[in-house]
Amino acid sequence: MSSPHPLDPSARWIGRDPLYVPEFDPRSGPQDTPMALISGEPALLLRRVVEIPEQLVSATLRMSARGVYVARLGGRRVDDVQLAPGWTDYHHRITYRTVDVTAHLAPGPQVWSVELGPGWFSGFLGMDAGRRARHYGEHTSVIGELEMRTADGAVIRHVTDDGWVVSDGGTLHADPMLGQMTDPRREPAGWHDPAADQPGAVPAVVTDPPSARFEPQVAPDLVVTDVLTPTAITTIAPGTTLIDLGVNIVGRVRLRIPAASAARPAGAHIHLRHGEALNGDGTLYTENLRAALAHDIAVITDTEWVFDPEFTFHGFRYVEIVGYPGTVTPDDVSGLVIGPRVSTVGSFSCSDQTVNTLHDNVLRTIRNNLVGAPTDCPQRDERLGWMGDASAISATMLFSLDMDDYLASWFVDVRDGQHPNGAFPDVAPRVVVDAEGAPAWADAGVLVPWRHHRYGGPRATLEAHYPAMSAFMDHLERNNPDHYRSRALSRSYGDWLNLDDPTDKALFATAHWALCADAMTAAARALDRADDVERWSASAAAIRDPFAEALLAGGPGRGSQTVLAMAIMGRLVDDPTRAELGARLREAVTGNGTALTTGIHGTRFLLPALSETGSLDVAYALLLRRDYPSWLYAVDRGATTIWERWDGWREDVGFQTPFMNSLNHYALGSVAEWLHEYVAGLRPGVIGWDDVTIRPYPGAALTQAAAERLSPAGRLASAWRTDGESIQLRVTSPAGCRVAVPTTEPDAIDARHARVLSPDPWPLLELPAGDHEIVAPWSPGWVPPSAPAVPGWC
Ligand code: BGC
Repeated sequence: MSSPHPLDPSARWIGRDPLYVPEFDPRSGPQDTPMALISGEPALLLRRVVEIPEQLVSATLRMSARGVYVARLGGRRVDDVQLAPGWTDYHHRITYRTVDVTAHLAPGPQVWSVELGPGWFSGFLGMDAGRRARHYGEHTSVIGELEMRTADGAVIRHVTDDGWVVSDGGTLHADPMLGQMTDPRREPAGWHDPAADQPGAVPAVVTDPPSARFEPQVAPDLVVTDVLTPTAITTIAPGTTLIDLGVNIVGRVRLRIPAASAARPAGAHIHLRHGEALNGDGTLYTENLRAALAHDIAVITDTEWVFDPEFTFHGFRYVEIVGYPGTVTPDDVSGLVIGPRVSTVGSFSCSDQTVNTLHDNVLRTIRNNLVGAPTDCPQRDERLGWMGDASAISATMLFSLDMDDYLASWFVDVRDGQHPNGAFPDVAPRVVVDAEGAPAWADAGVLVPWRHHRYGGPRATLEAHYPAMSAFMDHLERNNPDHYRSRALSRSYGDWLNLDDPTDKALFATAHWALCADAMTAAARALDRADDVERWSASAAAIRDPFAEALLAGGPGRGSQTVLAMAIMGRLVDDPTRAELGARLREAVTGNGTALTTGIHGTRFLLPALSETGSLDVAYALLLRRDYPSWLYAVDRGATTIWERWDGWREDVGFQTPFMNSLNHYALGSVAEWLHEYVAGLRPGVIGWDDVTIRPYPGAALTQAAAERLSPAGRLASAWRTDGESIQLRVTSPAGCRVAVPTTEPDAIDARHARVLSPDPWPLLELPAGDHEIVAPWSPGWVPPSAPAVPGWC
């Protein structure tokens, strides 16, 4: 059965004879190769000689793979893209890339070749010990078309078909999690020479086409986004070198391999092991990687070469190198960071350098978790598109990065993973974890697409997703006709990783349902669906009553910091009750030694909720707290990324359990949303950045703060500075904006060109487009008035 595809109909999916067994046995090497590594697959080489016509005007290459591929013409890579075609829900959708290759071609015979590794398709993925790899299929294959146009108008096409040959190459293992092993001596001679015979190659086998949809790639390409020089190179034992890249990254190490010598003859192995941290004795800590071996091997040959294992990727800061001839110098080794080509559109800074480092760490962690899908972590044997984590960080991410194409593609994976009853999955692409999604995880299927639109994402992306969002809401309502979400909770993780302050699962689920109903109301309004606006706002109201009743009835899990903060921020109770909950939240935090207890979801709501209910001082105290538990506790201990758990490492205990202790997990980084939107006061309007109200919440602990966001109209900026008696605000707005002025004396605001608006409990100014400076009295005792609800906030 063949699926329609936009390549020439004669193009075929080709690979290697499935019965072929590679002759290479890694145990035959001169040094032990870890047993686990031998379950990795080699990368295949495929090639065909094509005739390039005279008078070529243009040429395009369209390719895709079940696996990950590198395409070459005449031995030269056609582009710098990594791990193409990226990761989609291959059960449902495989995407192809189109590249202009005109500049790569010269008339005459030329070799079109492909190197093909297992990648997400058949490599190790997830943490299921019963099924480590081959989640999408057993055998890799590739498809492609080279289309050339000549000056006389002719169109010539070459395709992948049974005229290709396939061979083993130098990449003996190429697994995303296990690592890569390369022995250049095994590259077939003359592989890129059209005239060279290939006695070791065999005809490629045409394989069954996938039943998945075959569509053009939407997601931004994965590329090398940065090349790092080590910050330290240390010999920790004879023959063992430790490289420190200075920051925790996702990517790989590129290493110069010197030519063979008497001490290190051709065939000797150099081992590279990767880790995020060090043990107390300075050796590499790898226990938290679980089954992800993250072990690369390069083989020494008679000539110098460069090892660049591009069919694998690791989450790491440190690399241990064993067996390197001589000393490793900074010129020999670099760290290659990989990630999607997405640009930075938002920034934040303030007078506290540790907070700035925290903010940098949040951004680094987000970028480290965008390889293939928005993942929980890039290092251990998991690396799945956990939707709850993505939801928790989404507003931070959407403020900071241009996510339009990335999310447009991911939302297709979210839809492809939706269960027939409307339930969204826990992970997208849906693989390994097949269950219906839990509250706050599945809900990302509604919340993230709406937030994306609110932060300026295209209407068409929301429109395409809206039917799936409605189906999910119907599923919740069918199962919970009383509007209390106590059924169909699936795995129900709750406020995951909270500190001994759990939230009642049904209450937590119902709070999320209310946020989803608010998001649906706003989405329906944005899409001009008047009937639906009514429908969703009615359910939003209906859900609030049983929530409030259960919350106020009290009992276990009904007074957690998380549920109080969610009730406040979601406006799940009436205003007087909201104020009371504010007082309770203050007490819950200060009564706990001014320490938070929230998990990966509650954290996002905590500082905003305190800020909005008269406890801005407590919010700042939590931000700036340095003892455990706090964000700065990790920063003070040298963290360069956000940890999965508050107690990832503790002075008194050491590392948390290696079974679940990633040091590169973004959810707890949602504090950056508060930095952008409260501290600096820059947040989107109802939709996008044209009609915004800047509302800064200055605190005595800082003397200045600033945030910027690029918008289609230009650069939007909010900055403040205080000397403890007055506050100076500087605002740039290409479209004009409102500014809610934090001041102790509303009558003494000094602002030219401003029109004073009301009503808002804060003094509200309307400013025309341009740059503005506003000065007003302010003192550290300032308590922000409660602010009006932001429509569409969820
Ligand atoms: C992941 C989390 C995820 C969770 C579900 C973990 O293994 O790393 O980030 O949300 O499972 O509870």
